[in-house]
Amino acid sequence: MGIAEALNSFVTFATQTIIRFKKMKKIAVVGAGTMGNGIAHVFAQFGYDVNLIDVSQDALDRALKTIDKNLERQVSKEKITAEDKTATLSRITTVTDLSKGVADRELVVEAATENVDLKLKIFKQMDEFAPADCILASNTSSISITKIGAATSRPEKVIGMHFMNPVPIMKLVEIIRGYATSNEVTNLIMETSKSLTKVPVEVNDYPGFVANRILMPMINEAICTLYEGVAGVEEIDTVMKLGMAHPMGPLQLADFIGLDVCLSILNVLYEGFGNPKYAPCPLLVNMVTAGKKGVKSGEGFYNWTHGTKDLVLAPNFSK
Ligand SMILES: NC(=O)c1ccc[n+]([C@@H]2O[C@H](COP(=O)([O-])OP(=O)(O)OC[C@H]3O[C@@H](n4cnc5c(N)ncnc54)[C@H](O)[C@@H]3O)[C@@H](O)[C@H]2O)c1
Repeated sequence: MGIAEALNSFVTFATQTIIRFKKMKKIAVVGAGTMGNGIAHVFAQFGYDVNLIDVSQDALDRALKTIDKNLERQVSKEKITAEDKTATLSRITTVTDLSKGVADRELVVEAATENVDLKLKIFKQMDEFAPADCILASNTSSISITKIGAATSRPEKVIGMHFMNPVPIMKLVEIIRGYATSNEVTNLIMETSKSLTKVPVEVNDYPGFVANRILMPMINEAICTLYEGVAGVEEIDTVMKLGMAHPMGPLQLADFIGLDVCLSILNVLYEGFGNPKYAPCPLLVNMVTAGKKGVKSGEGFYNWTHGTKDLVLAPNFSK
């Protein structure tokens, strides 16, 4: 190896090492809903200073209450101490002005409502107001990271950090590399996820990434199996629970995720690949059109008006 080559490999090694061990401290989470409060919770629990940003003050107040309640549960299970809880809460600041909330941050994780136009607008704003070296991540379930990156002046620093619900409990973070995402940013985000005691898995940016590309066709097939009269709701869910050791059946899971969310992700797969195998089942389309969205609307395949503990069939599917 020549001197120039040796010097070059040393510089590459040193740069990667510095990047590998550079622990970020200041982060922001945009969107304080179901996912945003969980993401803020875990970052704060593991020592990060968190600005939690939302357009709605109500959402921020609700998020703090939820984080408090979830931390209290961790204390009662002796997973953390009461001091840890106080310290975690003290590291979270709520903010309604995005331009202020991202101004001095090293990483921003966007977890706002799943809507392409909204996300592109938020990423343009984050690009304008966050420092030039700040990494911009999205928790999107289905929107292209490459597309989001292309709306900014720093696509190499845009990446997907797909946390799972409920964030404080679920170990997986699907790390999605956009077409332009750099190796350095990917490595740093993998390390950052590990610092939260999560297990990151790196995947490329194609419709549905990995999690939803596999999960949603299974849910769709369960709905088609019901639609074609092969079996009823309870029978389908029981086969998958007891036969495949799934913790809940695919129809119950669809009700929990939200039937509107399932439909929208299936449409992303259908349009993204142009393949009819992803076409949403007409029964799913009908149910969403009729406002039956699962747990959040009180009815889907099951009736949820009495809570989520007992499985009661929805009137359309009871015998
Ligand atoms: N819910 C899940 O199980 C789940 C799982 C994985 C990923 N995701 C993804 O996480 C993201 C958030 O989903 P969620 O279920 O938490 O949604 P949610 O509806 O519970 O919360 C969204 C929040 O975004 C806020 N918001 C809207 N516009 C905003 C803006 N311009 N600036 C700041 N905040 C804004 C809303 O006020 C709301 O509080 C979506 O991209 C979704 O696809 C959701």
